This record gives sequence, C-alpha cells and structure tokens, in this order.
Amino acid sequence: MLAGQTVLAGQTVLAGQTVQGDKDGEGLMVGQVLRYGRLCSLVYQLDKPIGSSFGDVEFYRERLAGTTGEILEPAVGTGRILVPLLRSGLQVRGYDTSPHMLALCRDNCVTHGLDPVLFEADLTTYREPAAFAAIIIPAGSFALVTGREQALRALRHIRESLAAHGRLLVDIEPLASPTGPEPTRHWWHGEDLITLTCHPGVDTGDRCQTSWCRYELWRDGVLVRTELEPFTLQRYDLAEFATLLRDAGFTTSTVHADYQVGQSPTGQSRVWTFEATIA
Ligand SMILES: C[S@@+](CC[C@H](N)C(=O)[O-])C[C@H]1O[C@@H](n2cnc3c(N)ncnc32)[C@H](O)[C@@H]1O
Repeated sequence: MLAGQTVLAGQTVLAGQTVQGDKDGEGLMVGQVLRYGRLCSLVYQLDKPIGSSFGDVEFYRERLAGTTGEILEPAVGTGRILVPLLRSGLQVRGYDTSPHMLALCRDNCVTHGLDPVLFEADLTTYREPAAFAAIIIPAGSFALVTGREQALRALRHIRESLAAHGRLLVDIEPLASPTGPEPTRHWWHGEDLITLTCHPGVDTGDRCQTSWCRYELWRDGVLVRTELEPFTLQRYDLAEFATLLRDAGFTTSTVHADYQVGQSPTGQSRVWTFEATIA
C-alpha cells in the first residue's frame, strides 16, 4: 500500500475520492490526514483506560486544585485526564478533532455519571475570548500541531481564551532521536484482535518526526479493517518553547519536570510542563 492511500473495510481509496460505504460515515478524503481514527481511538482506550496515569493525572489535579472558573482541555481524547478532574469537583470542558475519541470520551463520562460539555474543534482555530481560568494540554498533545506558525497561532488563540490571571499548563516532550522498530503490539476487544505495527520516527526536517502506524482489526483470523495513521510530532527544546510562549504573549512562570512540582527540567527529563500566564 502506498503512503497517502487508506484502506478501509477492504477498500483502497485513491487521492481525491471520498470513502464510499464506510459504515461510520466518516467521509474521509485521502490526502486529509486520518488522525485518531476508529481503531487508533479504540487502542488508546484499551491501552490507557480511565484510571491510568503517567503521574500526569495527580500532577494536573494538584496544580488545578482550588481553580474556581472553568477549565478547558483541548485535545481531550478519551477523557483520561478530564474524568478524574471532573470527579475532583473541577469544572472542565473538552474538545478534540477526532469524533472517535470524543465518542469514547462521552461513553466514559456517562459511565462515571458525568455530563460535561464536549465538542469537536481544532487547536489551531478554536478561541473563546476571556472564557477560561485555566487551559491544559497534557500528554504531549501540543506536539501534534506541526510547524512554528501553526503552533504560534494555537498559542495565541489559547492566550485570548484565558480570563485575566488565567493559566496555561502544557506538556512538551524533549527532543528525542528516532527510535528503532518497535515490536507489534496487540489488544483483545471482545472476540476481536487489534494489532499495531509502527515504523517509527523518520525525521522530516524542521524538528518534525513522522511515524507510520498501521492498526489492523482481525476476526477469526481474518483481516476486517486496516487504518494507517501517520503521526507527525513537532519537537522543541526548552528555550525554543519558552520563546514561542513569549511570542504568543505569555510569561512562563515555571517549568516542572516529570510531573514533579518544582523539579527543574533537564535534557534527560521525560516531560516538561510549562506553566504560563498572560504577559
Ligand atoms: C495523546 S491523545 C491525548 C488525550 C488526552 N488529553 C489524554 O491525556 O489522555 C491526543 C489527542 O489530541 C487530539 N488532537 C490532535 N490534533 C488536534 C488538534 N489540532 N486540535 C485538537 N485536538 C487534536 C487527538 O485527536 C487525540 O485525541
């Protein structure tokens, strides 16, 4: 299969065609990036169900404790962070570009007796002037916005969407060298088997890395559905991201490493969380 083609339910889709007969009515155009599609979203949910944490759930809960206004989580995904924040009494809204992630998020909220506002929107276009006391982007999702101009535009929209004294908390994963091939992973979903094979980390220049991830759904040993997801991540070093925040009109107050409040960031940290306020 060539890059740029997507096979859905046994169909090969060529450039410029709309996917016909896709039961989900996704109507994807080829060339349009398929991001967090049905299988990818399901794998996220199976691999990182509500209740799983990299230390980020506890960290964000602590940093946001006592926030009285509304909090926004762009790129909310399945609600892995949103659900525990809501359960701790915070007022949180979420949006995401993926209808599949949002559908799982809604189901997770219902399971936990929650009914937050969730909607489809994009980091590079969404803004709601002076609406939020805090905006959070955990789990390295901001790296999915690629290109400096797009990143700057997203940060400016976020700044405009913060109320006076509002805070942005955003995770950035340090620059990493492309890794070697990963073994195929698998998950059972009832009788169905889902496999994931990733060809990692081709450096596409301008500090972007693209991995090609192939998700396959098998039933009784027969391949039922394949989804190909190119994941392009924008990488930053500490100074670069601090400059981007400043250019977007923020003052960085703190950078925490590895979800430890006050721990200084280094090149060896797994993740840096920038906490910024309006300049
Ligand atoms: C790694 S998941 C993170 C989900 C969740 N925040 C968590 O911590 O588990 C990244 C999410 O970002 C969403 N996403 C990617 N690009 C986006 C964009 N430009 N605007 C909004 N959401 C986006 C994806 O659909 C996906 O749900």
